[in-house]
Amino acid sequence: MKVLIHNSAELAQQAVADILTARILAHPASVIGLATGGTMEVVYDRLIRAIAREAVPVRDLVTFNLDEYWGLAPAHPASYRSYMNARLFGPAGIPLERTFLPVADAADPAAESDAYELRIREAGGIDLQLLGIGQNGHIGFNEPTSSLASRTRLKTLTQSTRKANQQYFGADEATPEYAITMGIGTILDARECLLLATGSNKAEAVSRMIEGPLGAHCPASALQLHPKATIILDADAASALELREYYQHVHPDGIDRQPTHG
Ligand code: GLP
Repeated sequence: MKVLIHNSAELAQQAVADILTARILAHPASVIGLATGGTMEVVYDRLIRAIAREAVPVRDLVTFNLDEYWGLAPAHPASYRSYMNARLFGPAGIPLERTFLPVADAADPAAESDAYELRIREAGGIDLQLLGIGQNGHIGFNEPTSSLASRTRLKTLTQSTRKANQQYFGADEATPEYAITMGIGTILDARECLLLATGSNKAEAVSRMIEGPLGAHCPASALQLHPKATIILDADAASALELREYYQHVHPDGIDRQPTHG
């Protein structure tokens, strides 16, 4: 794992936007895995600006999102499809027909999950998977005890995850109970993983992910198995790391000084 600790959330968000921009400039036909959540909002703002400023070609990109709430029509204002269209695809001019999320109002979640896996394979697999982390250590919607070999499927959300996401739903509408999410095995198949965490409310999950035992109780710890995983943090999210000084010694100010992982 490459652990890059930036002095502020803004610098960490900018670093992620820069990696995505450089990746798309170098490989315009990349297959990018995308994430949602509050953490990504500034990243996408910065990315949209870079795409406009540097005339980054996005017409050949293919994107796959991690997850979608089960039961929500794509047009629902709190769906991840709506989030992505409004916060990235529309403003960045990414052709919608090349953007994929699980279809969460399909009749059969198992069939939709298998079809999603197939779509990813047919696109040649994911080159770079962007990730956030939940306070309980989830990635995508792989809640604690998710199999480390899991594939795309329907998952029951924990009460704490539903509570954390209630802010995106109206007062009279509860956060859905289920979501279709890429599995941990699906995420680990990406050629590269890039996880961003900011804020002290993520510090405990971050320390379990990086320094805790590998285990389904902290699904993000599965990234310890990935040969090319980069974790970008701000100082608050890094505050519970035992080996923080070591990571800062290897990459002062979060600047990636070594091209290798491991
Ligand atoms: C949701 C998403 C995750 C995201 C997490 C953290 O549960 N399914 O992909 O990483 O929230 O969200 P936030 O960035 O809002 O803390």
